[in-house]
Amino acid sequence: MKLLAATRNRGKQREIREKFSSLREIEIVTPDDFDGLPDVVEDGATFEENALKKARELARLTGLPAMADDSGLEVDALDGEPGVFSARYAGEGASDFDRNVFLLEKMKNIPPGKRSARFVCVIAIVLPDGVEKTVRGTCEGEIAMKARGAHGFGYDPIFLLPDSGKTMAEIPLEEKNLLSHRARALEMAADFLRERIQKDGR
Ligand code: IMP
Repeated sequence: MKLLAATRNRGKQREIREKFSSLREIEIVTPDDFDGLPDVVEDGATFEENALKKARELARLTGLPAMADDSGLEVDALDGEPGVFSARYAGEGASDFDRNVFLLEKMKNIPPGKRSARFVCVIAIVLPDGVEKTVRGTCEGEIAMKARGAHGFGYDPIFLLPDSGKTMAEIPLEEKNLLSHRARALEMAADFLRERIQKDGR
C-alpha cells in the first residue's frame, strides 16, 4: 500500500522512512513524486486542525491514504504560545535566530523553574475508506535563559532537555530522533497503521 507523507522536507522524509521501515506493506511516497500538488495553507487554531486539513486535502487530490503533521512549541508561562504560530512568531520573513531572540526577550523576567515548555507534533492519517486518526507526540523541557548549540533547527538552541541539562541543539540528530515529539508521534502513527493492516488481513 502506498502512503502519501505530506512533507517536502528531506530530513522529515528520511525520518518517516526510518520509523516505518518495519512496516513492509507500506511504501512511502511524497509530494515530490507528483506534479503540481498544492501546498495546503495552515490556518487552523490547533495542531490537529492543521494536520487533518493537510491530510484530507492530499487524500482527496490523490486518492491515496495520506499522512500529514503539524508541530510547534508550547510555553506554559505564555499560555501555550507560540503554538500553531511557531513558524511565524516574530513576523513573516523572520529567521529561526530572530524567533529565538524574540521568545527569550518575551520571557526575560520569567525565572528558571517557571519556564516549562514542550515540543508538540500532531500527525493526522486519512484513509480512503473515510477513517481519520490523529496522534500527538510531545517532548517536555524548559526554555533556556540563552541559546546554546549548533545542531537541529528552529527553537532547538533554546529548548533545555530535563535530564542532561543540554539544549536540543547540543545533542546529535540521531539522539534527537529517539526522543523528539516527531519521533514519538511517528511511532504512534506506525502502530496505528500496523494494527489496521493486521485487522484488514484477518
Ligand atoms: P512544522 O510543523 O514542522 O512546519 O514546524 C513548525 C515550527 O515549529 C517550525 O518552524 C519550528 O519553528 C517549530 N518546530 C517544530 N519542530 C521543531 C523541532 O524539532 N525543533 C525546533 N523547532 C521546531
